[in-house]
Order: sequence, then structure tokens, then C-alpha cells
Amino acid sequence: MTYCYVLDLHQLSMHYKIITIFILLTLPLVSLNASASHSLKGIEVYLLPEENPIKMQLDTLFLEESPIENISTLRKAGFQLIIPSKKTHPIIARHPLFKGVIFKLYLEVQNIGKQLTETQMWLKRILGANKVRKIIDQKNWNDKFKVPKKWIYLFPHNSENSGNRRSILVEEEMDIFDDQGNKKMWKGDSVDQELLAMLHFILEEIGLRDCTKPGNIAFCRDGRIAFVDTQTWGEWPVSYHRLSNFLSSPMDVCWKEIIKNSKHQLKI
Ligand SMILES: Nc1ncnc2c1ncn2[C@@H]1O[C@H](COP(=O)(O)OP(=O)(O)OP(=O)(O)O)[C@@H](O)[C@H]1O
Ligand SMILES: [Mg+2]
Repeated sequence: MTYCYVLDLHQLSMHYKIITIFILLTLPLVSLNASASHSLKGIEVYLLPEENPIKMQLDTLFLEESPIENISTLRKAGFQLIIPSKKTHPIIARHPLFKGVIFKLYLEVQNIGKQLTETQMWLKRILGANKVRKIIDQKNWNDKFKVPKKWIYLFPHNSENSGNRRSILVEEEMDIFDDQGNKKMWKGDSVDQELLAMLHFILEEIGLRDCTKPGNIAFCRDGRIAFVDTQTWGEWPVSYHRLSNFLSSPMDVCWKEIIKNSKHQLKI
């Protein structure tokens, strides 16, 4: 038999009224935390493997004090910022002990909103990178494009970190040009109609809305383009027009023709 309870606050004593109102107000917070912890299920395959030497070194670094408390603790722990930090964006950093990788992380003092935990955001970036890699491999376009490997590093259980954060993202470092060099490449001879058509195919298939600016699709010293920011996928329409600002005039004409074939058109 199913019973249905209808809550009538008037029938309750003041004491119970206060308790009931408190429970009702805190319910959404409880379910948010429940979904956040639930989200850790199934991420094992995306974690930095135990046998990876970086994992052991990171454990040592994160076991005692939390390096990600604020910018000072981060620097004290040896991390060096690659680009200036932005308020709500992840910090992008290197560490001299860890060659060939970079770190994306949120400090405890940063406000990242309540939509997704940082671990869920890292997972999104990993899944986006996997989608890009799959197309590059299927199409045999590895001579033109690449995408860094990415892993979630979960802080050790016995770490003294008492904050809200549970993880950082470890990424294979790509040999990208600096901002100026990258923009120069985007205006240069390496960009032709065929490359733009390939790029359009990848962006359109995956819905990489934000991958139309040089910072997110960066030219590397080996001549390939690296998809370094794979967070916004499955988000159509892609902001194709933004790339126009970074192309030579003839290539911009080509690009405008190519993007006419997009299934998801941007309404402007
Ligand atoms: N794997 C990588 N290897 C080398 N450099 C990287 C890598 N990932 C990121 N970078 C550098 O850091 C910059 C910022 O990284 P990313 O785009 O992931 O951060 P973001 O805050 O999400 O950016 P956005 O401002 O586009 O939202 C990149 O434009 C690139 O210069
Ligand atoms: Mg970016």
C-alpha cells in the first residue's frame, strides 16, 4: 500500500516547523553534493595510472599541505603559471619536476560555480579530446592535427587538503608557438582550403563551439594543429565566424564558403 503524506505546516508545533523548514531548505544542497560524489563513479579509466611516475611524485606533493589553496601556495609548491590567471578560468601551470606535462587546476579560492565540480569539468575535457582523437585516427589526419592526452589526478585519500577540490587535470604538453607565432601561422601558407575543410569537419561533427580561436587550436612546431581546449563539445552551432579574424583574406573567402555547408547554422 502506498501512503501519501501532505505537509501541513499549521498542524506542526513551532519546534517541528523550524526543523521542517530547515530540511526543506537544505534538500537541494544535499542532492547537489550527492550528484557531485556520484560523478566520481566510472572515472577510474580516466585517472592518471598508478604506475605512472608522475602519479607518485604528485602524491608526495599533495599529501601534506594543499598546493592549490591560493596562488602563493601554488608557487611555493613549485608550480609556474604558463599564462596569467583569469578569475573563473583554470590555472594553466608547469612544474620543473614534471617534464612533458602541464596542469590545469582550480584554486580553492576560485569560484567555479555549482553546475559542475572540477572533476566533472576535467572529464568533459577528456571525453572531448577522445572524440577529436577518434576522428583524426579514422580519417588518417594525424599529419595535420593532434590532441594532447589528458588524465585526472585525484588527491590522495590521506591528503591534508580540507578544501572543496578533489582533483587537477594533467595534460601532455604540446609544442605550441607563443600567441604571436601562432597567430602568424594562422595567417600563413600552412593554412589552405584542404586544411580548413578538415577542420570544419571535425568542429561540426563534435560541436567544438569554442575551437575557432587560435588559442584553442594552436599551431605546433611540427606543423600540426593541436586541439588544446576540448571542454566545449556537443555545443552547436559552432562559432565559425570568429576564425575569420585570424585568416588571410583568400583563406577567409574559402572558410566562408566551407562553413556554408554547416548542418547547424548560426543565426545572426
Ligand atoms: N596541452 C597543452 N600544451 C601546451 N599548451 C597548452 C595546453 N593546454 C593549454 N595550453 C595553453 O594554455 C592556454 C589556455 O588553455 P585552455 O584553452 O585549455 O584554457 P581555458 O581557460 O579553457 O581557455 P578559454 O579562454 O579558451 O576558455 C591555451 O590557449 C594554450 O596556450
Ligand atoms: Mg581556451
